[in-house]
Amino acid sequence: MDEARGVTGAAPGRTGRLSLLGAWERPVVRRGPGRREVRDYEQADEVSWLRCRVLGLLGTTCYDDVWPAKRRADLELVAVDGDVIGVLDVSVPGPEATIETVVVHPDLQGQGVATALLAEAVRRLERFGVRRVDAWTREDVPTLRWLARNGFVEDGRHLEVYASPAEVGTVLSAKLGLEPVGAVLRARIEREAELRQRFERVHVCRRVVRDLRP
Ligand SMILES: CC(C)(COP(=O)(O)OP(=O)(O)OC[C@H]1O[C@@H](n2cnc3c(N)ncnc32)[C@H](O)[C@@H]1OP(=O)(O)O)[C@@H](O)C(=O)NCCC(=O)NCCS
Repeated sequence: MDEARGVTGAAPGRTGRLSLLGAWERPVVRRGPGRREVRDYEQADEVSWLRCRVLGLLGTTCYDDVWPAKRRADLELVAVDGDVIGVLDVSVPGPEATIETVVVHPDLQGQGVATALLAEAVRRLERFGVRRVDAWTREDVPTLRWLARNGFVEDGRHLEVYASPAEVGTVLSAKLGLEPVGAVLRARIEREAELRQRFERVHVCRRVVRDLRP
């Protein structure tokens, strides 16, 4: 993976390399076609994991969902080819699991990476007795297509409204000396037309589910 190109491309105008967490320790050497594998996440993967996630989300409606540190999950898989090229995190609170994160590096999408990660997760979840897995997604077409291809069906939807400083003042007022300068607000899907008229950034959030083999 040409990581330097990917990172620089994500931050036009910057010279040199941009590191998500501190300085580069060594120059990035273009790795040849290495051995790709899916394995469990390890602590040493964290920086590479965070870069993969943030770069993969840049081209989606979740472009501003940036994590400075990895959040832990019950099942944490990575696809690696030298660096982390794909990530899949699943929380498993009981017989139903939730995909918390599934992201593939933008330079390497469409090569079966996410499908391989999901296949391994499904194998493990079924062995563990999990009956259903769900995920939350917005209106990103490649993502919706990938989920449908992989057996997920829609089970419900709601709205997420990102109110700008100007917009938020029309629905929230200052309390306790706290002036709202923006907000993320949830609403019922039935109010879509009305809310789209009032707010610039409105997402339809879909819950998709896939039943697993008993
Ligand atoms: C959605 C996402 C995870 C899919 O990852 P991916 O690795 O590109 O997915 P895959 O390669 O497994 O499958 C995608 C396509 O590549 C095709 N493909 C699969 N294996 C392939 C291969 N070996 N060579 C070429 N194409 C292949 C598949 O047919 C599939 O086609 P489709 O789009 O018509 O369904 C990725 O696009 C992504 O990271 N998106 C941004 C983050 C995001 O939205 N995450 C999901 C939140 S729920």
